[in-house]
Amino acid sequence: MCGIVGYIGGGSSGAKRIITDGLKRLEYRGYDSAGIALAADGGLIVEKSVGRIANLEKILNASSADSHAGIGHTRWATHGEPSDANAHPHTNADGSIAIVHNGIIENYIELKKWLTTEHGISFRSETDSEVAAHMIGLFYEGDLLDAVNKTVKKMRGAYAICAMAAAEPDKIVAVRKDAPLIAGIGENCNFLASDIPALLKYARMIYLIENNETVLVTRNDITIFNEAGKPVKRDVFHVTWDADAAEKGGYDHFMRKEIFEQPAGIAETLNRRLDENGEIKLDGISLTKQELDRIERIYIVACGTASHAGLVGKFAIEKFARIPAETDIASEFRYREPYIDDKTLVICISQSGETLDTLAALREAKSKGARVLSVVNVVGSSVARESDDVFYTWAGPEIAVASTKAFTTQLICMYLLALYMGRTRGILPDNEYKRVLSELGEMPDKLTKLLEDEPKIQNIAKKIYKNERIFFIGRGVDVSVALEGSLKLKEISYIHSFAIAAGELKHGTIALIDRDSLVVALASQDRLFEKLLSNIEEVKARGAYVIMLAKTGAGGMDKRADDVILIPACADDVTPILAVVPLQLLAYHVAKLRGCDIDKPKNLAKSVTVE
Ligand code: M6R
Repeated sequence: MCGIVGYIGGGSSGAKRIITDGLKRLEYRGYDSAGIALAADGGLIVEKSVGRIANLEKILNASSADSHAGIGHTRWATHGEPSDANAHPHTNADGSIAIVHNGIIENYIELKKWLTTEHGISFRSETDSEVAAHMIGLFYEGDLLDAVNKTVKKMRGAYAICAMAAAEPDKIVAVRKDAPLIAGIGENCNFLASDIPALLKYARMIYLIENNETVLVTRNDITIFNEAGKPVKRDVFHVTWDADAAEKGGYDHFMRKEIFEQPAGIAETLNRRLDENGEIKLDGISLTKQELDRIERIYIVACGTASHAGLVGKFAIEKFARIPAETDIASEFRYREPYIDDKTLVICISQSGETLDTLAALREAKSKGARVLSVVNVVGSSVARESDDVFYTWAGPEIAVASTKAFTTQLICMYLLALYMGRTRGILPDNEYKRVLSELGEMPDKLTKLLEDEPKIQNIAKKIYKNERIFFIGRGVDVSVALEGSLKLKEISYIHSFAIAAGELKHGTIALIDRDSLVVALASQDRLFEKLLSNIEEVKARGAYVIMLAKTGAGGMDKRADDVILIPACADDVTPILAVVPLQLLAYHVAKLRGCDIDKPKNLAKSVTVE
């Protein structure tokens, strides 16, 4: 989604380079145009361009203009097609105010009408954002902070807005409501941004701006104001992420790098939650026996890949903790009037912690009295801050749009939670608890070994990359992995792929299977292996090419499939952690052979901050 970078330092230059550099670090969020506003020569210079940041850079390099301060933006179109005119920054009529905006101003039509009919303002873009520039211009009487405050009082929706005024070149004012915003402390300079990676190179100390807060940033100060306009004290948050973690580090793509970071991410997520005796410790999360005994139902709420981790979580919670659990897509959960009361625990899963649907579902759950525990990767993100308890994944920054290491670390969190709940409730026998925990402990090594098989997956990718219809089937917990494998493939290779429970094939979908079909059959479950083989027979009988994924050993020896992918032997309960990895690699290599933009697939954004 859209990205924001603001910078204010000393001298008369630097802003151009620092802001474009920050914008490049936000490219992973997905965007279609970019722009920058610089305070220079008593005015504001605005440059913008549709397409990649490289297009904007060409324009900027051709000009000698620079500044000590500016705001930049990467846009992901919501209102109006990607175009130069719709790109941010937007300005008021005389160009004395410039703004960049993330989010959606829901009442922009009404505001546009008011600005047009009552103030004779004409609009240059189709965006909702432009109303903010005109309103700030209208209310401006020499005090940008005051004008921004008056503007937001008239706006409804979700937004992070950064504004500059030509008459006050030493200030940037920003405001946040339901869209991420941080302020960073630099050396003799300060920053604003929508996302931590934009600042990693320059600032490690940041302030997390809360909803309905306004922030005034100058070269030497960052002042945060609450909704009533009173200054608020905020603790500095120290970012521990390594700046290199957000670099490709020799890999062709972030996605491949992140696939290979999974053993380390899993080990870190596990180690953070195991004490010196190897017992699960949930420091900072309150789940006593008394509290758990009160919980009558659990909803796991998430979007996309995180919801697939939720499906595995449901299986683990019901099996190990024996509490009824449902997994819901966040965008559906919030509108379906689910049964929620104070005996309900909602577990939100989100890599970014900024997915609007997940955040809205979280708020809905809290407003109805549920307790919310979140599994989140980005420390200090909105989902993390608004939850009662947070279980962090320690995957490190995930840059590629296609989520990989976030998924496997989310799985670890869900297994740990389920085991902990079962143990604390006195339901899970000791030997069972230890058995699963020991299986989890073996995952980093098994994954490292599995990743050595990349050349084999690459060969399979060469055989199948021209296929236009791919089906993923599985049984039991393999259904969740099938859904994830299918999502991974479609989002980065644009192949039409579809995942379905193998037993459900014959109820309709098998009508689509023919000689042009490719079926990836997940057969990791020992107890369901024979049944899955029957499903393989069914699709083979209709001419499909079958790739089977099975455990090394008896299952993997079967000759019925055309190709076999093997994962290391492990217990049925924990196979998703291993089984998903060859599917991530398959998607990656297929997409690479098809010449796709792997890290930034078309139409997609890393963090989906609109409904
Ligand atoms: O940041 P979140 O985990 O909340 O994001 C949820 C989905 O948008 C995300 O998993 C998406 O499906 C990925 N592109 C999948 O690879």
